[in-house]
Amino acid sequence: MAHIIGGVGTTHVPSIGGAIAKGKQTDEYWRPFFDMFPPVRGWLGRSKPDIAVVIYNDHGLNFFLDKMPTFAVGAAAEYRNADEGWGLPVVRSFAGDPEFSWHLIESLVADEFDIVSCQEMLVDHAFVVPMQLLYPDVDPTGAGAGWPVRVVPISVNTVQHPIPSAARCYKFGKAIGRAIRSYQQDANVLIMGTGGLSHQLEGKRAGFINKDFDRLCLDRLVDDPAALTGYSSEELVELAGSQGVELLNWLVMRGALGEHVSPVSRSYHVPISNTASAVLALAAA
Ligand code: DHB
Ligand code: FE
Repeated sequence: MAHIIGGVGTTHVPSIGGAIAKGKQTDEYWRPFFDMFPPVRGWLGRSKPDIAVVIYNDHGLNFFLDKMPTFAVGAAAEYRNADEGWGLPVVRSFAGDPEFSWHLIESLVADEFDIVSCQEMLVDHAFVVPMQLLYPDVDPTGAGAGWPVRVVPISVNTVQHPIPSAARCYKFGKAIGRAIRSYQQDANVLIMGTGGLSHQLEGKRAGFINKDFDRLCLDRLVDDPAALTGYSSEELVELAGSQGVELLNWLVMRGALGEHVSPVSRSYHVPISNTASAVLALAAA
């Protein structure tokens, strides 16, 4: 039987990929950020996931504004990265698990989530940067062993309104959790939620960060995620910023973990680029 070991929420700012490519992890600016990750990696080293289900939002590499699925699930044998224009090196591809993906898709559709299934899917910085943060020993551009987990990318539209509500995202996460737990083959599964926390990249409020709301979200993600489902999308934009709604990916992740979790590690550092960065690792009960 598949077993959910827990979840990790992390920021996915592209310049983190630039810092990794240039080996700047111990520079004054970057050290406090990269220092947030060793406890998470220690836990992963002990719990040894075989599969990572990565909840993220595509920023225009695979889906553009002309066709924007609310929820899309990868079903490919391999997922490639490509140049998004941030100046980041393209990283090595990720092995998928089509049988596991199709089980998730069957279960989600039976559960009334009309997802888009993707047998081809390019993965952008929101997928790649968190993988690099969790697995820094993998040479991202090619030499040596590849990524130690098979992956299923799940893209949530946090980009073009109307975006799915917090309540819908939490329910989607619960359905993902049910789907994984009903998979008959043995596998340890990690759920990742990427993006956020508060940030806004454009307009009059460019640079907006809301530490109080971020802290409240981190608290509620641990002990009362349902409390976050009361916010409307407009309220989330107001409180977290127009890109801070990437918090929804974390809420999907949290939904998959079940009622009770034990916090493994929680850290927060402001800012990285324009974003309040955070990492939260939760072991499933
Ligand atoms: C930044 C943050 C993001 O989430 C993103 O997708 C792109 C850029 C930033 O803070 O620079
Ligand atoms: Fe983003």
